[in-house]
Amino acid sequence: MIFLIKYATIGTSWITKSFIEGCNLTDGFELKAVYSRTVEKGREFAKDFGCNRIITDINELAKDSGIDAVYIASPNIFHYEQSRLMLENGKHVICEKPAVTKSEELTQLIQLAKDNNLIFMEAIMERYLPARAMLLHAIDQLGDITTATFDFCQYSSKYPAFEKGETPNIFNPKMAGGALMDLGIYCIYAAVDYFGLPDSVSASADFLRTGADGSGCATLKYPEKTVNLIYSKTEQAETGSEIIGSNGRIQIDSISKLTDIDVVLNGEKTNLIGDVPKAELMSFEARAFAEFINNFSSMNEQYKNVTELTISVHKLMDEIKKICNIKFS
Ligand SMILES: NC(=O)c1ccc[n+]([C@@H]2O[C@H](COP(=O)([O-])OP(=O)(O)OC[C@H]3O[C@@H](n4cnc5c(N)ncnc54)[C@H](OP(=O)(O)O)[C@@H]3O)[C@@H](O)[C@H]2O)c1
Repeated sequence: MIFLIKYATIGTSWITKSFIEGCNLTDGFELKAVYSRTVEKGREFAKDFGCNRIITDINELAKDSGIDAVYIASPNIFHYEQSRLMLENGKHVICEKPAVTKSEELTQLIQLAKDNNLIFMEAIMERYLPARAMLLHAIDQLGDITTATFDFCQYSSKYPAFEKGETPNIFNPKMAGGALMDLGIYCIYAAVDYFGLPDSVSASADFLRTGADGSGCATLKYPEKTVNLIYSKTEQAETGSEIIGSNGRIQIDSISKLTDIDVVLNGEKTNLIGDVPKAELMSFEARAFAEFINNFSSMNEQYKNVTELTISVHKLMDEIKKICNIKFS
């Protein structure tokens, strides 16, 4: 049975706007409430979406029986507690990446969701994009793959404030910020989604004055290939990501959005996909969330695959954090 999912949001920055716009591109959602720590900010945010219910008490949101699901886009450190609270109160949850700060928390949330017949999903766009299937098909045609580089080096719009002495959440270890958590996770998703877990990993990080990692890299060793991950919030790269095989190569401009992908096979170049607006990109994860909720029995296998991938990614994240001594306190 298909029903309209009545949902609420946590977090009032641009990413929540994009998610709501993504939901609005589907027929599956109705925004019922916006949570903010302040009524003023909540009202200012919600007015563009015709939503007049602002909640400032998170327990009130959790206990509201008129809300089926919650999208969480607060600073990383709050994700686990907020997700748990919502799941314990019967809400389906889609939580922004990274959904947890350690993989044990993820296992707990997935189990809690299962015990209560709920969906818990990390909001990782890439996994739900139609471009992913096209990319996987192109990877299959590459022949023997020996090398891949997944690069997400993006100068943060919040870095100038950091350089002036402020501490934006994303550069604050107390908020579980840093390059690995923010951008490295996309590179890890790509590696694990396309090639599985590696046999071994080496990694390093460069730390900022707050103790957060501003940039880092990791090398994943597979039996017959090496995959390099590079991520940074303090520099901008233009090279993109690349997968190289015996029959050619795939050039990916954005590893998180899977946009601007070129495939060169036996010397012939084809553009697989161009640019796609952000709201449209987010509509695919919103649609997947709705399908998991509405058609759980037929989507069970896909949901299982997604949760297994997410757990593998967070286990690898844990390993890299340990090697690099990345801590959140
Ligand atoms: N998927 C994507 O493409 C994408 C893009 C950007 C961000 N994200 C993810 O979205 C999440 C939020 O990122 P962001 O950059 O939007 O973070 P942010 O601006 O630092 O905070 C998000 C929201 O959390 C609340 N908040 C801020 N500081 C807080 C604090 N100290 N204590 C409690 N609540 C606080 C604020 O809402 P109120 O003041 O209204 O309470 C704010 O709007 C992160 O997990 C990030 O990884 C994902």
